[in-house]
Amino acid sequence: MAFELNRLGDRFAAEIVGVDLSQPLSDEEFGAVREAWFEAGVVVFRDQRLAPARQVAFSRRFGEPIVHVMSQFLLPGHPEILLISNKKHPDGKPMGFEDAGRYWHSDISYDERPAMGSHLYAVEIPPAGGDTLFADMRHALATLPGDLRRRIDGRRARHSYTRNWRRNETVEGGRPALGAGQRDRLREVSHPMVRRNEDTGEEALFVNPGFTFAVEDMGEVESDALLAALFEHSTREESIYTHEWRPRDLLCWDNRTVMHRATTYDPAHARHMHRTTIAGGRPVQAARR
Ligand SMILES: [Fe+2]
Repeated sequence: MAFELNRLGDRFAAEIVGVDLSQPLSDEEFGAVREAWFEAGVVVFRDQRLAPARQVAFSRRFGEPIVHVMSQFLLPGHPEILLISNKKHPDGKPMGFEDAGRYWHSDISYDERPAMGSHLYAVEIPPAGGDTLFADMRHALATLPGDLRRRIDGRRARHSYTRNWRRNETVEGGRPALGAGQRDRLREVSHPMVRRNEDTGEEALFVNPGFTFAVEDMGEVESDALLAALFEHSTREESIYTHEWRPRDLLCWDNRTVMHRATTYDPAHARHMHRTTIAGGRPVQAARR
């Protein structure tokens, strides 16, 4: 292997040292990076000089980049890059998603084909806060009490971009309104609650508080209680890795394996990030136990 791999969290997440993403990777190097990423769930490349076109090219080797529904927050000239930012245009309008993901979620799980992976590059970061937390959903599944596991085996849950907005607004302060064209791209979808990663064969719990709102074919009271129990179990301390950003980090996560959330920071400081999002397939239901 042409690089070093340093474990970051107790159970998952790693730092890849010795790879320069400003240059194209050889097929062999790319293959090793891909394997390391999928195994770790989350990897970071430090101190990268990553022009937007290079980031898009790197992401594209894993799959087709998704152009995000929030078209007003795409980087001009590079629609594959979504701005996560608290900076403002000269007219005062926000440059990017300011409050993106301050609740646990798996990116774009509200689509029939959720994002496989996401790559987030730190252009500017605040001196404190604005961390990204990850929860290992393989570990969540592996440690799930048997009665909970039996209740989700072979079942599906419903995901939506907008159904949980009101719930998240009370916690996190709301999101920008959607235009009609944006709403047209969003609808409710159903996914297996236990998902098999088609690249590694590993199984993971696939529900998240941001977008999963109901267990299919289950009454509302029972469904709400089951989801609450699953969310609580998934976000126990032992399943979490907290990424404290450094400038020029490129952080990569596998949405099939982990869910994530951002923490708050002092808005007097700039936080400006470039995100590319890689398309995935329809989630594969894990075999019943
Ligand atoms: Fe996210």
